[in-house]
Amino acid sequence: MTGSLILALAALPLFYGALASPSGLEARVTGTLDSWIAEESSFALEGILANIGSSGALASGAASGIVIASPSTSNPDYFYTWTRDSALTIKQLVELFIAGDTSLQTIIEEYISAQAYLQTVSNPSGDLSTGGLGEPKFNADMTAYTGAWGRPQRDGPALRATALIAYGQWLVDNGYSSWALSNVWPVVENDLAYVTQYWNQTGYDLWEEVDGSSFFTIAVQHRALVEGANFATSLGKTCTNCASQAPEVLCYLQSFWTGSFILANFDSSRSGKDANSLLGTIHTFDPEAACDDTTFQPCSSRALANHKVVTDAFRSIYTINSGIAEGEGVAIGRYPEDSYVGGNPWFLCTFAAAEVLYDALYQWNQIGSITIDSTSLAFFEDVYSSAAVGTYSSSSTAYSSIVSAVKTYADGYLSIAQTYAPSNLTLSEQYDKSTGVSISAANLTWSYAAFLSAVNRRDSAVPAAWGETSASSVPATCVATSATGTYSTATATTWPATLTGGSTAATTTTTTATGTTSKMTSSSTTTSSTSKTTTTTKTSTACSTPTAVAVTFDLIATTTYGENIYISGSSSQLGDWDTSDAVALSAADYTSSDNLWFVTISLPAGQSFEYKFIREESDGTIEWEDISNRDYTVPAACGTTTATVSDTWDTD
Ligand SMILES: *[C@@H]1O[C@H](CO)[C@@H](O)[C@H](O)[C@H]1NC(C)=O
Ligand SMILES: *[C@@H]1O[C@H](CO)[C@@H](O)[C@H](O)[C@H]1NC(C)=O
Ligand SMILES: *[C@@H]1O[C@H](CO)[C@@H](O)[C@H](O)[C@H]1NC(C)=O
Repeated sequence: MTGSLILALAALPLFYGALASPSGLEARVTGTLDSWIAEESSFALEGILANIGSSGALASGAASGIVIASPSTSNPDYFYTWTRDSALTIKQLVELFIAGDTSLQTIIEEYISAQAYLQTVSNPSGDLSTGGLGEPKFNADMTAYTGAWGRPQRDGPALRATALIAYGQWLVDNGYSSWALSNVWPVVENDLAYVTQYWNQTGYDLWEEVDGSSFFTIAVQHRALVEGANFATSLGKTCTNCASQAPEVLCYLQSFWTGSFILANFDSSRSGKDANSLLGTIHTFDPEAACDDTTFQPCSSRALANHKVVTDAFRSIYTINSGIAEGEGVAIGRYPEDSYVGGNPWFLCTFAAAEVLYDALYQWNQIGSITIDSTSLAFFEDVYSSAAVGTYSSSSTAYSSIVSAVKTYADGYLSIAQTYAPSNLTLSEQYDKSTGVSISAANLTWSYAAFLSAVNRRDSAVPAAWGETSASSVPATCVATSATGTYSTATATTWPATLTGGSTAATTTTTTATGTTSKMTSSSTTTSSTSKTTTTTKTSTACSTPTAVAVTFDLIATTTYGENIYISGSSSQLGDWDTSDAVALSAADYTSSDNLWFVTISLPAGQSFEYKFIREESDGTIEWEDISNRDYTVPAACGTTTATVSDTWDTD
């Protein structure tokens, strides 16, 4: 079929000429959305790792643990490390690490050690205790960038705290509290002190253009303070200032709600419709939260209304969006007035539009119902014409119809990205609004991280809760305030070789506060205190049986390029044996010596089902495993929120 199509094209010069026209300048990805996701997933992870020093293939000269924004050194020059981009990238790597990719642990730890050092680098925003944590970017060798720039940017310390807490909480949960206390907490404590001191002052927004107050910044600051206080508690520490400031930050956050959408910045020269708010929503998503309007949770009426207003703002301004109806995925940029590189769609903004919806789908599934009110009605009407105000339980047909329509809508944004992604799978910053051709910085680290985040949510793989459920109530009156804490140099940057197997004896390279490196060996005293902490932490933690468990299916299957693997089974999450609803596995960790495919799926605790893996050839042909059905029962046990199933293709 494919062969004859190629022959037909070659025999038709007119059609061939059309392919070479300006709208078809580059080779594009072909195949189904699922097949692109599988291929792009492994490429995206490689793309991230290539951009991290000191061993990343495209990050030559970057210090250990330093994430560069892009290898591009001219037009634009992004060979720097931004605190924001790095934190969002590492947050994604921590998520993949917790889901089972243990190869990422060293890079995460090197990043943490690099941040401990970077906090001490005096820069044009100040030094450690005088505002320097708000410096947006540094040279890749960890020296200060002293040129003119939009500084300070106050989202950086909050996002870095969130990334570090994700790993720190994993350490605590796995019995390594002493490492969380010595190596993670001191860095986090400085960042939290910065947020409590400066949240109520203006700064530059995430696009580095508007000096003022920005929704994204305030939203991620609120999250950081809430989880910072909880993280402190889990370590036997306190963050009194986090607790005092967080409700005030949330109070101020309410002022960004216009009544119909989220105002990105208090800046009268713009409409305020901006992917800033889509990003704020996905980066403060809490998988345990209700559809709370106060924290703009993805399934909240506010976030959904905002999703419509913001995405609709891009429908008429890009040629490549013409003719696509409301309620269908389109190319999304930063904000409609954008003129940077001519003002084009960005991959990471398009992924964010999808991710808001995948997050909402996850939350509805957890909650067991969808509520439509007058605020969100217009959003729902776009995808489900008979939408009406009311609450629809998961057993109703309306619920099923809406969920299916929203899933299709979300996939539409990824399909747009697939349409314009080049066949070599590299993701740049932007794609041209008229031709769709990739432009601006090549191999943008954040584009890859944003892709992985969106497709994980599509697979119902979600990060840990950050404490939204006890931090969503808004004080009656807002107060302009701040709290000044203390800053101290984080000095512990030595890590054991591995923390996964419970072994703590090791040597690693340490970055000292003077920027030189030295070899250090962890002492046996530290080792034994770790084991003591383990026992205390594990037995004192109260727990309940979760409603859902994140089950990772690891499959060893030898595949050739172009083949994809799916899991199909008798549970609705596995498509009820319908192969068109089977769940794709990722080859992100596939190597010639370890033919691993994997996927993490959120399944109801205690559910029993049968399943099999299927192999899809590049021409779409499907092959089932040639064995009897596999069966599995999801654990239902106090505190068990993750599980792993290991299988080998065609082997019972
Ligand atoms: C982008 O990444 C690809 C794959 O690693 C590489 O071949 C290419 O040279 C990179 N481009 C730039 C500008 O770094
Ligand atoms: C500080 O907080 C008060 C109270 O929420 C608010 O009115 C004011 O606009 C805030 N200013 C800045 C710069 O955050
Ligand atoms: C990949 O495709 C992009 C977009 O067409 C192009 O700019 C880039 O040079 C290609 N890179 C490689 C390594 O092929």
